[in-house]
Amino acid sequence: KGYYFSTYKIEKALTVLDALIEINENQDPTLAFRYNCRAGLCGSCGAVVNGNLVLTCTSNLKDFGQNIFVESIHNLPLVKDLVIDFNPLFKKLKEVLPLMREKSRKITQMNERFNKSRECIQCGLCFSVCPSRAVESFVGPAALVAFYKYLRHPRIEIKEGLEKFKKEPQLINPCIQCGFCTKVC
Ligand code: FES
Repeated sequence: KGYYFSTYKIEKALTVLDALIEINENQDPTLAFRYNCRAGLCGSCGAVVNGNLVLTCTSNLKDFGQNIFVESIHNLPLVKDLVIDFNPLFKKLKEVLPLMREKSRKITQMNERFNKSRECIQCGLCFSVCPSRAVESFVGPAALVAFYKYLRHPRIEIKEGLEKFKKEPQLINPCIQCGFCTKVC
């Protein structure tokens, strides 16, 4: 159908997601968007709000002023309205995850860096903002975080993965270290 815009008036809502739910329930039941946890945990509610990539469930309406422009996230195929197809992102994750093997060693304690990287909820916002995403061979920031997470995991063997990245630099080299993914995360 291509790009189109609809205008709605919201009287009362706390978050951007609350506003979308209000529209869906009381003004336009055809409006499609995705959400699940409503607590910034599941990663399903990403959108571009006034040009900013955000999770709509944790974004307060009042932070965006009177007129709010909500778009679907970019760089991923659009299904309908704000719903995008996550499959290209999942495909990249699948490329990286089989490169790890579980070790038989017992876990004594988790590494601090491991703990930090496991906060990734795979919402796809980093993937959406990544300018190197256009390079087909690039695994993308979400898959790299998934890989990094296990780099420090005491029970995961990733030698095979490191070898693969060495042999196939096209998997990671397209990253230009612009930092957009970090900023949006
Ligand atoms: Fe789960 Fe927003 S609804 S992160």
